Amino acid sequence: MTTATAAPKGLEGIVAAETEMSFIDGEKGVLEYVGIAIDDLARHSCFEEVVYLLWNLKLPTVTELDAFKAELRGRYALPHGMLERIKRLPKDAEPMHVLRTLVSALGMHDPDPNAIDPKAARHKALNILGHTPTLIAMFDRHRKGEEIVHPDTSLSFAGNFLYMLNGERPTETMERAFDACMILHADHGLNNSTFTARVVISTLSDMYSAMTAAIGALRGPLHGGANEGVMHLLNDIASPKDVPARIEGMLERKEKIMGFGHRVYKAYDPRATYLKTLAKQLAEDTGNSALYEKSSAIEKVMEAKVAAKGIYPNVDFYSATTYHSIGLDLDLFTPMFAMSRVSGWAGHVLEQLADNRLYRPKAAYIGPHGVAYTPIGER
Ligand code: SDX
Repeated sequence: MTTATAAPKGLEGIVAAETEMSFIDGEKGVLEYVGIAIDDLARHSCFEEVVYLLWNLKLPTVTELDAFKAELRGRYALPHGMLERIKRLPKDAEPMHVLRTLVSALGMHDPDPNAIDPKAARHKALNILGHTPTLIAMFDRHRKGEEIVHPDTSLSFAGNFLYMLNGERPTETMERAFDACMILHADHGLNNSTFTARVVISTLSDMYSAMTAAIGALRGPLHGGANEGVMHLLNDIASPKDVPARIEGMLERKEKIMGFGHRVYKAYDPRATYLKTLAKQLAEDTGNSALYEKSSAIEKVMEAKVAAKGIYPNVDFYSATTYHSIGLDLDLFTPMFAMSRVSGWAGHVLEQLADNRLYRPKAAYIGPHGVAYTPIGER
């Protein structure tokens, strides 16, 4: 009897799909979307252009970008009946549970929810991408007892979200900062939630099931939920001078420091490089310098203690200070990650459908054989 040789735990290092969207060099700390360095995109592009790039594998012309923006803006508004659904949700529900529930519910407002031909799948991907900011903002207004703010199609993806959330148009600085965050979180190879989406759609299930499953995976503290964990840690440390004792104590107790480490990056996450600069600037502009000072104090301790093991800040470490400085509530941080990553998840779903084979690995059986059945009276 040949026993299958088990892959490394967590499928570490195993190539389980091909993609043309994002490339990561974990040793060098490189991330490219369709060959373009993430730093160039964060500095010069916009989220809508990045989604177009990921889904079409080329940068758009002016006409193509204008047409895509119009297509996406046409999907800011929710299907009829969704707002009533939001208003019935418990106000103390966790936003990531709300998002998982509402994206799943979108399927019940789709006349043909199971269609996954390329045209239908892209149409549903665009719908979910356009609707997600509205779902999050409307739930937040509902839970706070504030008047619902309906989307404004004259605004960008980033601008419209901040407008619906706060009831006023964002400053150019805040819109630009948030847009950069959306660019940085859009896609990242075969991360856990993206793999989840591909596994689900590989059964030829539907877009809503794939997106809902991915949201569930992203919520975990080892993945997208880490940005909220970073904020809890920062809030729990009184001042930068308390950082060394706190972090060294956590490391001695083998506790994970949220926002650090990565299955692929063994160098500085290039997204963290950009977010660190953004966090510093925004923190200073908004009177949150103490947050940034605590963050850089944590980074200094971690550099001394664990950088040699390839543990560096990841995308979540400085996104926490950035999101807080933009004025977002802590429990909206992971929904922000999801709002952007819907674009990457959808792109991977489209790739999987274009060349599908059901995901079905094996498990190495390590239990007994030839066990007799004992009647219950004799147990
Ligand atoms: C994201 O995959 C992606 O691309 C994800 C993502 C994306 O864009 O989709 O980049 C987004 O999820 C970023 C990661 C967010 N998660 C966190 O910040 C949570 C904290 N990080 C860790 O839990 C951890 O680093 C992981 C889960 C991210 C990766 O863990 P691995 O690859 O399974 O590594 P491991 O847990 O086996 O750790 C290896 C060693 C261990 O030490 P030893 O037992 O060998 O002595 O490194 C240590 C770990 O204790 N270690 C940490 C640490 N991360 C790893 N020690 C302290 N703090 C940490 N954060």
